[in-house]
Amino acid sequence: DAWLRYAALPCEIRKAASVPAGIVALNNTETSPVYTAGQELHKGILGILQNDLAVTSTPINGSSITIGTVDAFNSAGGALPELDLKNDGFWLGIKGDSVQIVGQNERGALYGTFQYLSMLAQGNFTEVGYESNPSAPIRWVNQWDNMDDTGTHGSIERGYAGPSIFFAEGLIVEDLTRVSQYARLMASIGLNGIIVNNVNANVNLLNSTNMAGLGRIADAMRPWGVRMGISLNFDSPRTLGKLTTADPLDEGVIQWWDRIAKQLHDHVPDFAGVLVKANSESQPGPLTYNRTLADGANLFARAIKPHGDGIVMFRAFVYDNTINETNWKADRANAAVDFFRELDGKFDDNVVVQIKYGPIDFQVREPVSPLFGHLQQTGSVVELQVTQEYLGQQCHLVYLPPLWKTILNFDMKVDNQPSLVRDIVSGERFNQKLAGYAAVVNVGTNTSWLGSHLAMSNFYAYGRLAWEPTSDDVSILEDWTRLTFGSDRTIIDTITKMSMESWPAHENYTGNLGIQSLTDITGPHYGPKPQSQDGNGWGQWTRADATSIGMDRTVWNGTGYSGQYAPEVAALFEDIETTPDDLLLWFHHVPYTQQLKSGKTVIQHFYDAHYAGAAVAQTFPKQWEALKGLIDAERYDEVAFRLEYQAGHALVWRDAINDFYFNMSSIKDEQGRVGNH
Ligand code: GCU
Repeated sequence: DAWLRYAALPCEIRKAASVPAGIVALNNTETSPVYTAGQELHKGILGILQNDLAVTSTPINGSSITIGTVDAFNSAGGALPELDLKNDGFWLGIKGDSVQIVGQNERGALYGTFQYLSMLAQGNFTEVGYESNPSAPIRWVNQWDNMDDTGTHGSIERGYAGPSIFFAEGLIVEDLTRVSQYARLMASIGLNGIIVNNVNANVNLLNSTNMAGLGRIADAMRPWGVRMGISLNFDSPRTLGKLTTADPLDEGVIQWWDRIAKQLHDHVPDFAGVLVKANSESQPGPLTYNRTLADGANLFARAIKPHGDGIVMFRAFVYDNTINETNWKADRANAAVDFFRELDGKFDDNVVVQIKYGPIDFQVREPVSPLFGHLQQTGSVVELQVTQEYLGQQCHLVYLPPLWKTILNFDMKVDNQPSLVRDIVSGERFNQKLAGYAAVVNVGTNTSWLGSHLAMSNFYAYGRLAWEPTSDDVSILEDWTRLTFGSDRTIIDTITKMSMESWPAHENYTGNLGIQSLTDITGPHYGPKPQSQDGNGWGQWTRADATSIGMDRTVWNGTGYSGQYAPEVAALFEDIETTPDDLLLWFHHVPYTQQLKSGKTVIQHFYDAHYAGAAVAQTFPKQWEALKGLIDAERYDEVAFRLEYQAGHALVWRDAINDFYFNMSSIKDEQGRVGNH
């Protein structure tokens, strides 16, 4: 149940509630989100307030909770205030024991219901009357689940919580109970779409058995207002269809995809759309056939267009993973803008470009992808990661909203106008109908969903921020904590303190000053391995040698990357003096003895930061002890185990990285710690 436990409130708090006498769900077809909302309210109120309320569909005046769409309220003759609701938005009105939950559509009514239940579960009985609208239309989850037709059981790429809840042995699983529970979690935080299979897509998802299976998945999620889409493999016409080409302009290929789109629609009438990774990491794509990326995206856009309002999410993660490190002008970070800049305006209107938050790959700190400033005639979707691929893989506590907020609040200053990333991905800044959010979540069959209880705050916060990116990261966390563990002040204060310390600490012990996550990048992306960054074609280089470190990404002397930003931002990063310390080595190649704004040298900062970060992680087990007896023993122990592990692993990180740079630079730690342990 994650944060939807509906634990009973203490008796004295329950008594203060004026509980409505019944629940009225106005739109009551069994699979409709409003029907679901009625059932969820029943369940929630039974748990939280211990009242067993009847659910009906006939309007009653007075003491009731009435849920429905604006239209349903109007036809039932209900009195509504003047409303200005966007798609999926809702109005929540609580007055004494009369509650109105009004959705612009059915989904909105369900979201309003979850909002009301969240208040009750936190013992909040305030009278309210307000509208709430999502910041952006696209609020999706991406799962990187494999089909595993070669025998392994439901693996998930970069998934750390057990096998897939969707697939096993090449097929869609029979029992989709967990899938509908997942949709319930998504709905409770306002998420409205999901891509169910890995971006590195297996063509067998499109065989006839699996098409039918996709229909079952969509059926399981529909009552929760979650629409389903899939990742496509660009090469499918060749590998599955046995055509001789996958050229996006080839008539046979076009017809092949048209047929697939029609079949998908037959099984999934409200098909959400497709996610496409092409010409990335040595995979085929339109460039393989000398076509543009837009030709590739539009191929799918045109195939799905006749069948409803599904969309194409074309990923901007297009780059060459065999670039040459001896060329000081080569830079993987340049790739997205280089590939997409000229294509703005060339995409069909049901295409959006899905852009990872930084130009490399979900690092502990990256500057915002400059591509957000270049697509003005095409909708942009920001891709975040809840699964902690580079950030400790759920074995480390890292509360991610502070990182995400550095991205969403960044001002790209396009055309000298305020251009916050959150206003670009809301569609507002460039007036786009389609825009929004996608996060790689990768839940698995582990009962905690993500394999770690505390990691779930990231999933919860993702939905909350996609709905309202200006929400405060601490209050989101406090809501999550109350819903997950209860309202005791010690619980809330402890989890808040640890969580808010966790990202800065992680950055300190895994890769600071913008050098990126110094993990094993050619292997599992886990644990320290600074030597793996360089000497390969992946382009996550540090260019560290005996005297200096960092990527020169300036225009005047380096790869030219900084010039991909609007002039004011470019000038900031071009100049060593104005580049913030936390991105110094991202943008500049400097001697280890370079002075930072803090007055320290780069190398001394490395040493100190790794000690400081690891020291913070070592306080976590002790901090957690304050919760002993305040939460159930099972979750207490499971979290304690992980925090203890993190405390130890942070030391491994600290020493591995510090030793590596000490050996490389031969510069002593002023405090005499490094090399002496
Ligand atoms: C990273 C990740 C891969 C993933 C890729 C992508 O490189 O490690 O597992 O396939 O990103 O986002 O496409």
